[in-house]
Amino acid sequence: MKHRFTTIFVCSLLLIVSACSHRSQQSEMDRFIDDLMAQLTLEEKLGQLNLPVGGDITTGQPRLSNTADDIRAGKVGGLFNLKGVDQIREVQRIAVEESPHGIPLLFGMDVIHGYETIFPIPLGLACSWDMDAIERSARIAAIEAGADGICWTFSPMVDICHDGRWGRISEGSGEDPYLGACIAQAMVRGYQGDSLADPTTIMACVKHFALYGAPEGGREYNFSDMSAYRMWNEYMLPYQAAAQAQAGSFMAAFSTIQGVPCHGSKYLLTDILRRQWGYQGFVVADYTGVEHLVDNGVSASREQAAIQCIEAGLDMDMVSAEFVNLAQAVKEGRCSIEAVNRACRSILVAKYKLGLFDDPYRYCDPTRREVVLSDAHRAAAREIAAESMVLLKNENNLLPLAKQGTIALIGPLAQARTHMSGTWSVAAVHDRYKTVEEGLRDALKTTKTRLLVAKGCNICYDPEMEARASMFGKSIRDNRSDEAMRQEALAIAQQADVIILAMGESAEMSGECASRVNLDMPDAQHDLMVQLTTLGKPIVLLHFAGRPTVLNWESEHIHAILETWFSGSETADAIADVLFGATNPSGKLVVQLPRHVGQYPFSYRMYRTSRPNEYGYWGKYSSCYMDVLGTPLYAFGYGLSYTTFDYSDLTVESCGSDKSDKSDAVIANVSVTVTNTGDRAGAEIVQLYICDPVANGVRPYKELRGFERIYLEAGESKEVTFAIDYNRLAYYEPKHFDYVVESGDFIVMIGSSSRNEDLRKATITVTNLFSLGKK
Ligand code: NOJ
Repeated sequence: MKHRFTTIFVCSLLLIVSACSHRSQQSEMDRFIDDLMAQLTLEEKLGQLNLPVGGDITTGQPRLSNTADDIRAGKVGGLFNLKGVDQIREVQRIAVEESPHGIPLLFGMDVIHGYETIFPIPLGLACSWDMDAIERSARIAAIEAGADGICWTFSPMVDICHDGRWGRISEGSGEDPYLGACIAQAMVRGYQGDSLADPTTIMACVKHFALYGAPEGGREYNFSDMSAYRMWNEYMLPYQAAAQAQAGSFMAAFSTIQGVPCHGSKYLLTDILRRQWGYQGFVVADYTGVEHLVDNGVSASREQAAIQCIEAGLDMDMVSAEFVNLAQAVKEGRCSIEAVNRACRSILVAKYKLGLFDDPYRYCDPTRREVVLSDAHRAAAREIAAESMVLLKNENNLLPLAKQGTIALIGPLAQARTHMSGTWSVAAVHDRYKTVEEGLRDALKTTKTRLLVAKGCNICYDPEMEARASMFGKSIRDNRSDEAMRQEALAIAQQADVIILAMGESAEMSGECASRVNLDMPDAQHDLMVQLTTLGKPIVLLHFAGRPTVLNWESEHIHAILETWFSGSETADAIADVLFGATNPSGKLVVQLPRHVGQYPFSYRMYRTSRPNEYGYWGKYSSCYMDVLGTPLYAFGYGLSYTTFDYSDLTVESCGSDKSDKSDAVIANVSVTVTNTGDRAGAEIVQLYICDPVANGVRPYKELRGFERIYLEAGESKEVTFAIDYNRLAYYEPKHFDYVVESGDFIVMIGSSSRNEDLRKATITVTNLFSLGKK
């Protein structure tokens, strides 16, 4: 007893001491920034808000460029997408030694899914459902980028998307807000660690705030307006979760909210972000986002656009270079000095927290660079890449393949080195990465297996479309005739025991400004597949994609399909690991694959409708399509393994605390037993869905509210328990958008995917209305 008391006493004391020291650090920082700001002219304050692209000084003439002169004049707060520690050090030197107050610059970069060691595109990474792995990927990205001069990444991208036509679905974590929120926090933790003062961490930037993932028709940069009910329940959770995790910065979105461009929305940047969520970091514009208010037709001039944005709560201007020119407007009272001070202070605070005032070169120590693309980092990336792949089909257990006989590897992605890392891999060093062919050859090198390789076809017939799909120096166009390439492929296929196809999208068919309306396998590849299936040999499709695509024909005619996404620098080895069974696949889809592109927008979180029809079969006067089954081809949460898992014994233990006033009070524990019924060890992602069958707002049939990734040896069983508290049951009600749990029954479902046939159900009851406030 005495011992317990002493422990409590010591802990309380430590808490008080740490709170006091935090407060004194805070006031030390405030004093420092107050002093500095008092010395800055209005023009210099505005200079801190200016973020040009590093481009014009990337080619090695820093002293001669305009940007270098601007830095000297104190008109630049940071630069982005400049690569190389020596160059960054030199530019930082100009800021520190030659600008009026020697304020160090922020160096940002789109470190989206790794630096030189590249992880799967975020959509693929999310399919691991492995928060430790995701955090680790961000941690490694921070260590590498931080060792090469970068202190700020424009990641995580947390936009929820329900439309595979939008190319940037590749950069997010899929369609579900709950999973998206968990991943957003894991990414922020990975980048920022416990403290930004640690130079192996970098500052995160949550983007794109808000609703960027919902452009109408999936067309890039399109209008994205929606009801407040939908916005709160489907889109806002991941942004809010990242704010709670104290991400250092947010980026405004090119989209619109309640009719106003996000960059100029006070409702979004001040009322929600700062007031409602208490966010303390700074908000940066997206590339030329400030001047877009003129394109949007809500500002008559660039200056007016800048005023609207800064007054709305935007702090830093990326590329438009309009904030830096606001001095006159401030002097004439058209722009408030309070807004300028707020913005300038928030950027200086970020620099302070990053330790740049203590040591402006803390990210510029060239001796640290040896960690970049290290063996350890590559090994981690390989493991994570294999974990992210989703096995969609495996007829007669064709996979894993035995290392024997003759294998024909065919397809335009078999030797496409520059495509493996996927879109948005700014720091990639492609010549250090393997092709699929090289990965397979290495895996087979100690065996007698014959590997024959042919490209077979181009990405698509139309050279112009292919040029669009392989921008940034990634052209892999072959000038041979279609027929010559096809014959070569058929010739090697005829000699093979098994055919492996490396096909699908090229890397730049997804990503920014890569919206598409046809999501079928590109024509040339489809035609070749059709011909190869006439040979009657077993076929495995390694399907490369940066988005959900339509795989109807493939799922009918191809024997095994592995969704490889674009899995980063280690794609080739990770594919070999899965193909030959060194890794048992465990990824599960975070976006469902449609049967037809016309189903978009489309999500498993389907709202209950009038004339309901959850299973999507044709029925006159019910909610369905006449010409396609309304369900997905492959469901959210779906993915196969080389083993099988059985779910049994769903039990509910009521905890009787549904009258508690604490949001984390447990109402019931719901448990299930999962057994590995196959003959090899594997990981399973156990998913928890809930449904509120009677509520004031229309609710979905089901929504994810928990998951656990477990590992089971062959024959092993584990009990998985989800503690159901109010947080797991709440939603934004349709009147005031308060986050509430309405009283009544809730259906709780646990299983291996979102498909009804994969779920076991139970009911729990909440007796009182519970409000979690505005959240
Ligand atoms: C535009 C993109 O929308 C954003 O995600 C990115 O961070 C910036 N460009 C900077 O490259």
